Amino acid sequence: MKITIVGTGYVGLVTGTCFSEVGINVVCVDIDQKKIDNLKKGISPIYEPGLDEMIARNTEKGRLHFSTDLPSCVNDSDVIFIAVGTPPDEDGSADLKYVLDVARTIGQHMNQHITVVTKSTVPVGTAAKVRAAVQEELDRRELGIFFDVASNPEFLKEGDAINDFMKPDRIVVGVESEKAQEIMARLYKPFTLNGHPVIFMDVPSAEMTKYAANAMLATKISFMNDIANLCEIMGADVNMVRKGIGSDTRIGNKFIYPGIGYGGSCFPKDVKALIKTADTVGYSMRILKAVEAVNDDQKSLLFNKFMSFFTGDVRGKTVAIWGLSFKPQTDDMREAPSLVIIDHLLKQGCRVKAYDPVAMHESKRRIGEVIEYCKDPYEATIDSDALFLLTEWTEFRYPNWVVIRKLMKNPVIFDGRNIYDAVELKSLDFSYFCVGVNT
Ligand code: UGA
Repeated sequence: MKITIVGTGYVGLVTGTCFSEVGINVVCVDIDQKKIDNLKKGISPIYEPGLDEMIARNTEKGRLHFSTDLPSCVNDSDVIFIAVGTPPDEDGSADLKYVLDVARTIGQHMNQHITVVTKSTVPVGTAAKVRAAVQEELDRRELGIFFDVASNPEFLKEGDAINDFMKPDRIVVGVESEKAQEIMARLYKPFTLNGHPVIFMDVPSAEMTKYAANAMLATKISFMNDIANLCEIMGADVNMVRKGIGSDTRIGNKFIYPGIGYGGSCFPKDVKALIKTADTVGYSMRILKAVEAVNDDQKSLLFNKFMSFFTGDVRGKTVAIWGLSFKPQTDDMREAPSLVIIDHLLKQGCRVKAYDPVAMHESKRRIGEVIEYCKDPYEATIDSDALFLLTEWTEFRYPNWVVIRKLMKNPVIFDGRNIYDAVELKSLDFSYFCVGVNT
């Protein structure tokens, strides 16, 4: 079987590489010549644990190829995945320009049956637009070729994407014909051998499943953040409440960790897009609007605690920040709470010294040298008036507090991920604040 993946962003590159890992012949296509040249040399545009090694291995075995020439790949493919970007418009809806450009190119060159699969996160109804775009080009060429469109949303988590792809909880595929179902079942067979199911359904349901999954997860997080904030006021401990409710399997113990708000490229964008889709058809997603509002406020939570600790007198204070990426195991800073917090701190005239194991180059690219970048977590705390823990990287789990106590000018810690022990820190004379526990 031969497949082409169009778009070597996060989803496309992981998908293509993982398919090649099980022996499928894959071409990853992108219009960005530099990206493709780099990939041919084994330089990946994204940070994802294990990906570089997998790209190198499969390129060497001749199963994974990179190209900028989509037309020449079209008729050499049984399946073409469209995994190009769908950047949000001003109003939050997904821009389908790139997806439909690819569909048109496929239609301009297709001479045989191909299954065209949407892999990017696209609104309900997109596969139908892809079908129409391909068909329009075939009609222009006066060709009566039968082809399929399918929707195969991805559920990868950044930082754990390879594991998610190789051992998926489930694979969702929306199809319109038995032929497409057979082809997709064959393609995914290597990933289903350990009992991971492929769930076939109609195309609009597959498209909706992706949004419903992310919206549900975002809802769990905002719900827990609301509960955490109330716990603090009422003198309850959200860590206990989390354990108490999470052990009910109907609720589950995953994605109920309170914190400083969800970030990344997916939850914020998909929640917005689903609200927008519903608004355009005259339905209001009342719960999701609240989910978004809670999340926006939660990103300012630590800053507000910092302001009240210093009773608003923060000008000229030095703040150490541990963690810039929106979560561990990634250098991604899209919609990261760190950006909101840094912005507040700078506006208040604070000096910010930051350290992140992998995201500092990304931070420099985004916000430049308006903050100082440190070579390790300890350096960031030197002469600082406060320490903010924003991303729960493992290297921040067990710092040497005795050393840090001496380095900091003022020993106060704002823990946005509830990873530290309040009793231990208090015994070392730190002031300690976290989320959902009145310390
Ligand atoms: C998310 C989904 O988890 C994937 O299943 C989905 O495929 C992906 O979006 C996508 O649509 O492409 P991702 O954005 O990589 O994956 O990151 P998550 O691990 O889900 O974390 C999202 C945010 O939620 C992070 O900011 C994290 O800190 C926050 N979070 C997560 C919490 O605040 N509490 C939790 O209990 C869990």
